[in-house]
Amino acid sequence: MNESFTLLQVPKVLSGPGSLHKVFDELTGRRLLCLISPSASTHRAVMDVFDAFERAKVEYHREEVSGEPTVEVIDTITARYLKGTVDTVVGIGGGSVLDAAKAVSAMLLHRRNPSMRTASVLEYLEGVGDKPAPAGRLGLVLIPTTAGTGSEATKNAVLTRVGDGGFKKSLRHDSYVCDLAVLDPSLLDSAPLSVLIPSGMDALTQLLEAYFSVSTNQYIDSLVLQALTDMPYALMGLIEKTGKREDHLATLSYGAFISGVGLAHAGLGYVHGLSGPMGAIHAIPHGLACALLIAKTNRAMFTRAITDGDADVYLTRLHRLAITWGLTNQEQAIQLLERLEILAELPSAASYGFNREDMDTLDVVKAQRNAPVGIEADEVRAILYSIL
Ligand SMILES: [Fe+2]
Repeated sequence: MNESFTLLQVPKVLSGPGSLHKVFDELTGRRLLCLISPSASTHRAVMDVFDAFERAKVEYHREEVSGEPTVEVIDTITARYLKGTVDTVVGIGGGSVLDAAKAVSAMLLHRRNPSMRTASVLEYLEGVGDKPAPAGRLGLVLIPTTAGTGSEATKNAVLTRVGDGGFKKSLRHDSYVCDLAVLDPSLLDSAPLSVLIPSGMDALTQLLEAYFSVSTNQYIDSLVLQALTDMPYALMGLIEKTGKREDHLATLSYGAFISGVGLAHAGLGYVHGLSGPMGAIHAIPHGLACALLIAKTNRAMFTRAITDGDADVYLTRLHRLAITWGLTNQEQAIQLLERLEILAELPSAASYGFNREDMDTLDVVKAQRNAPVGIEADEVRAILYSIL
């Protein structure tokens, strides 16, 4: 646990069922570019907001964005609004749409500068471009309709190129944290389980990786552990249709936001070290890749920690998590993750085109990132083969 730490900015947040209705007041007088996912377009509460824009003659443009954002999508949308008067970008959808909105809000501001008019976002992507991401963006409001990446709390936008020369890389700057995040769990209600569960397992993964991170701190520890308390049970309740659905959705909505705060401060571990590069090989949904790996990597870390006997901090923290989950020991905590994976009935990585050769290209050593326990390379490779 780091006792010296830096606290990053978090956005203003409107949270709770019906909070989307309050967004209208926040946007009055702005000139909007709304990026929206096709599924969010048909949501009743979202349609109400656009109806309200019409009645009040709010100036807005609307672009549908589907799939994980690419350089080409960001450059094309940005170019379309360079000459306009848009001053605020609104993202309504899953993590991909929110990341697209974040990248467009930054690039639109900077490309309005004549010296940067023809710039591509590619030039500013970490590990791909050769320029630092420029500071500043237009106004930015993010409204998640799935509970996954926590993009509404983070300062980076992940852009993807799949296939040869593929990458999954971030446009990142402290100034890209949005102005306003709207966490309205009722927006999650229309998402199918096939979307809700993997994306929620991404949020669960981010919370767990931030919780166990060697770079965590007291601030993140308290936030993340509290958000973790109900997460696995909310996911199970949604799958098994037990408990109050609206309570489960509220747990996911808040958990996803805190997972973004957590990863921004503490970083991530094995699952994201593997799922990120996997997303550049084949178009596997990020949440699904995380969902396939979370129980198995935690089982491997737990086994390694017991075998090696020098991971007291990790084992103590895992025990604390087990107690938080109403369990009595670490083994039961790992079993809870395994039970969740089975209940989720996830499609295999092979169904998205992966084979052993693809898995062999992944860097299984670098994948550890901030995970507190190292897993042998062969063991990581075996985990990757097992999700085919
Ligand atoms: Fe993630």
